Amino acid sequence: MLKIDLHTHILPESWPDLRSRYGYGGFIEMQHVAPCRAQLIVDGKVFREVEDNCWDPRRRIADCDREGVNVQVLSTVPVMFSYWAQPAHAHDLSKLLNDHLAWVVATNPKRFVGLGTVPLQAPDLAIAELERCVVDLRLAGVEIGTHVNDWNLDAPELFPFFERAAELGAAIFVHPWEMLAPERMRKYWLPWLVGMPTESALAIATLIFGGVLERLPKLRICFAHGGGSFAGILGRLDHGFAARPDLVAVANQYPPSHYLRRLYVDSLTHDPDMLRRLIRLLGADRVALGTDYPFPLGEEHPGAMIASMDDLDAETRDWLLWKTALEFLDRPLSAFL
Ligand code: CO
Repeated sequence: MLKIDLHTHILPESWPDLRSRYGYGGFIEMQHVAPCRAQLIVDGKVFREVEDNCWDPRRRIADCDREGVNVQVLSTVPVMFSYWAQPAHAHDLSKLLNDHLAWVVATNPKRFVGLGTVPLQAPDLAIAELERCVVDLRLAGVEIGTHVNDWNLDAPELFPFFERAAELGAAIFVHPWEMLAPERMRKYWLPWLVGMPTESALAIATLIFGGVLERLPKLRICFAHGGGSFAGILGRLDHGFAARPDLVAVANQYPPSHYLRRLYVDSLTHDPDMLRRLIRLLGADRVALGTDYPFPLGEEHPGAMIASMDDLDAETRDWLLWKTALEFLDRPLSAFL
């Protein structure tokens, strides 16, 4: 049985000092502090320690072999999006990260698939880099954030980007980042535990209510962490659509539940009942194994929760573990055999 992990993150082993390259701070630096350990630093402050599984393809393949994972889908760590930076600089950084990603994939084409990153604060540049990712670098698509500074994903400025992605058949993986209300989430790891799922729900709701999914029937778009809180508030969204169409039914014809088949999500819910609900709502062919490797909020043993759910039949398991990922990425099985 195959296993494809749709949600994993990777960084280059090193990159240029971005403060001196662009002339201002706020960018991420990586400082190697031991043979297999490094610190991620912003403006002199350490915010995360990482191990070599974050950058070393050999270590990652060894971990995959131990866990029975055939393919990892690689995307950058969302702190690298840099949507806040000057467009030309975010564009330059995107190219650097995407070239690295393409190199990792090209050296291990049966073990890795790449999702690039784009400077989404400048939609024209983002479209150019999306085209380069898909056409020149042969990546499957790109990873984007749940919002771009003040824009939710229904911002009219972003529509041409989604339109081009749909035309190119590029897979879009939406990952929460820069979580809302930081001033109210200083304790208890709240940005990760409450902020991230809320970000994903907000992203899905705005794409539906903004008519983006309705206007782009070919867009393939997937949301990390099982779509966050979305499945939990679906009934409320539908009711809101019916109760106040003057506020809610302004850019789309149908209630949110009409668009469920338009969504892909990963399986990272940490809750078998929520995974069952997602399978029931979206279909098993819209849910793909995702672990958030190599980070601590992820699933340590890829697919362990799915394996523990006795009620899933063999066909459902196949969809969750690899078939959905292949469809979302638009890659043939033969590419990995
Ligand atoms: Co992640």
